[in-house]
Amino acid sequence: MEQLRGLVQRFHGAITLDDRMRILRQKPVTIWLTGLSGAGKSTIAFELERQLVSQGQACYVLDGDNVRHGLGRDLGFSQQDRHENIRRVAHVAQLMNDAGLIVITALISPMQADRAMAREIIGANNFIETYLSAPVDTCARRDPKGLYAKALAGEIPSFTGISAPYEAPLNPELEVDTERLTPDESVAGIFGYLREHCLAMPA
Ligand code: ADX
Repeated sequence: MEQLRGLVQRFHGAITLDDRMRILRQKPVTIWLTGLSGAGKSTIAFELERQLVSQGQACYVLDGDNVRHGLGRDLGFSQQDRHENIRRVAHVAQLMNDAGLIVITALISPMQADRAMAREIIGANNFIETYLSAPVDTCARRDPKGLYAKALAGEIPSFTGISAPYEAPLNPELEVDTERLTPDESVAGIFGYLREHCLAMPA
């Protein structure tokens, strides 16, 4: 395999990232949402996308549950499979950023090392690690999909926060306290950060 890779070379087209940024009038970044199931990742991701698109920004959500129907349909929830899931999504996000799009990912991405890998694949300058910090008892109380009840009954093995680890980010670009804040307030916080950091975002 390694030998084969040496035979595959990159081909560079004439269009640069600067060209794409000029057309789309934005800096393509990846907002990497991480947090427990029930912390609000999908809700916040899709509302943020809605608001960005309604302001004319080109944006796309890569949601864990959605992506696992196709790109990751062969993967489960072992550490190894989660690592592979995150690796694939990070590469797709990197390609989408390269195409000029703003990307929002909504994956539990529970391990520091896997998020560090995503940061490396996507590029540290484009990577906005955003920790949705609702604690496990709050998420279990919300239990929007009824999964915590099943996990606590022993029906789902390796469930994050119950029988599998979640390592909170130590130094995220953004932390959003989704225990205390409403989804709208959480989105507003992320939006404010983007306005400051993504060139040519409308005020
Ligand atoms: S990750 O760990 O690889 O980042 P991902 O975000 O793609 O996870 O998928 C998490 C979603 O899968 C959860 O929102 C939940 O709906 C579902 N799920 C099913 N089994 C598990 C499990 N054992 N642990 C966590 N989530 C699970």
